[in-house]
Amino acid sequence: MVKKINIFSCVSCGYESNKWLGKCPSCNEWNSFVEDAKFKGKHAAGEYRNFGETGVMALPEIILSEEERIKTGIIEADRVFGGGIVKGSIVLLGGEPGIGKSTLALMLAGKTAEQGCKVLYISGEESLAQIKMRADRLKISSNNIFLVTETAVEKIAALIEKEKPALVIIDSIQTVYKDGVDSVAGSFTQVRESGAHLLYTAKKTGVPIILIGHVTKDGMIAGPKTLEHMVDAVIYFESEKYLQFRILRAEKNRFGSTNEIGIFEMTDEGLKEVKSPSKMLLENLADEKTGSSIVTVMEGTRALMLEIQALTGRRAYGTPQRTVTGIDYNRFLLILAIMERKIELSLESQDIFVNVAGGIKVNETAADLAVAAAIYSSFTERPVSTKTVFMGELGLDGEVRQVKHLDLRIQEAQRLGFNKCVIPAKSKPGKTEMNIVMIKDIREIAGIIRQ
Ligand SMILES: Nc1ncnc2c1ncn2[C@@H]1O[C@H](COP(=O)(O)OP(=O)(O)OP(=O)(O)O)[C@@H](O)[C@H]1O
Ligand SMILES: [Mg+2]
Repeated sequence: MVKKINIFSCVSCGYESNKWLGKCPSCNEWNSFVEDAKFKGKHAAGEYRNFGETGVMALPEIILSEEERIKTGIIEADRVFGGGIVKGSIVLLGGEPGIGKSTLALMLAGKTAEQGCKVLYISGEESLAQIKMRADRLKISSNNIFLVTETAVEKIAALIEKEKPALVIIDSIQTVYKDGVDSVAGSFTQVRESGAHLLYTAKKTGVPIILIGHVTKDGMIAGPKTLEHMVDAVIYFESEKYLQFRILRAEKNRFGSTNEIGIFEMTDEGLKEVKSPSKMLLENLADEKTGSSIVTVMEGTRALMLEIQALTGRRAYGTPQRTVTGIDYNRFLLILAIMERKIELSLESQDIFVNVAGGIKVNETAADLAVAAAIYSSFTERPVSTKTVFMGELGLDGEVRQVKHLDLRIQEAQRLGFNKCVIPAKSKPGKTEMNIVMIKDIREIAGIIRQ
């Protein structure tokens, strides 16, 4: 006998309570409680816990089949998946409304189908005609793509078992419902229960499933966070407003690095892979610029050249404003503090804005020197050559510290026609035609950005 109990649970950490709470006592998140239902009895005990009757096996006895990954052929996406989609895995593809999730999924389906693999595209959101229209626009016409509109999870599972496709796409998990679960599709319980059912199907059949999920405004995948824990990979498709690029980023990946990103551009004919983003980002750059500096950052295994822009201006009264986009705010404050103390710049009455052009987010401390250079240039109104690249981390004492993958960064700069690299002292760069300038301390920046 299955007994249903109404409870409230935290979407962030899963903490359960029998009444609604404003703040979660476990993870301290505000407004994170949603109405939920819990089942007691056989059903709750784990209907989908066992993926197969293998019993206990010694590690070497487990034999992997030849081809464990499906390479879609969309290089930008394969890289984020960790080298292709792993068989039997379940991937959550999340993103804001209209970002291009269905477009990307259909393109993945198209490329996979072109290799002779059968793809099942299950839609609960759009009619077959709508998907066909999109496919026509994307010039996808493979005989190996099969479409169906279905939202009942049991029927979806049965279809997967019957059709045995090489890849399944479900658009979206919020429209899928499970019979017997007493809440509407898209609710916390429905998403969790349907997710568990699909996870079981993927593991049992070995068919990889891509689940599309909508992300709410505050960045949560609508429905439970628990889905993020259940699935093998959580991939976000994101874009800053007004940004030309759409970025595919792994939030979690059991089969690959989470540092890699895939960069796309949305066009009428679908998403175009951006293979040389640095080139696009640095297009139309004047030879000299005030309040600007170029840096090479590493996104996974790829070196990316970015322009950091800074604007400073004196504020006559009130608290000066500090606004940053694309870099960490606390890191920015730290760089300001170092500059104020070590180069004795009086920045305290200045409004300061820092922006990473193109809308890419920089998570690396290797960009510290470039941020400092851009601010210095804007403050002193001295232009910086846009053929110069800055790389280095700043220590609290003003010292410029080493960065990883220096040669890769220099090579990328050289490839794109830069002629000067400002790098930390004691670095050991490989052979290069670039003019290398080593600096030990932030105080030396004044000598580099001359009148
Ligand atoms: N000719 C076109 N027709 C429709 N959409 C286009 C066209 N050209 C480009 N697009 C882009 O495709 C995007 C819609 O993509 P898609 O439907 O894949 O998004 P989604 O993330 O699946 O959205 P939803 O959350 O509504 O399911 C639009 O925001 C638009 O930018
Ligand atoms: Mg869609």
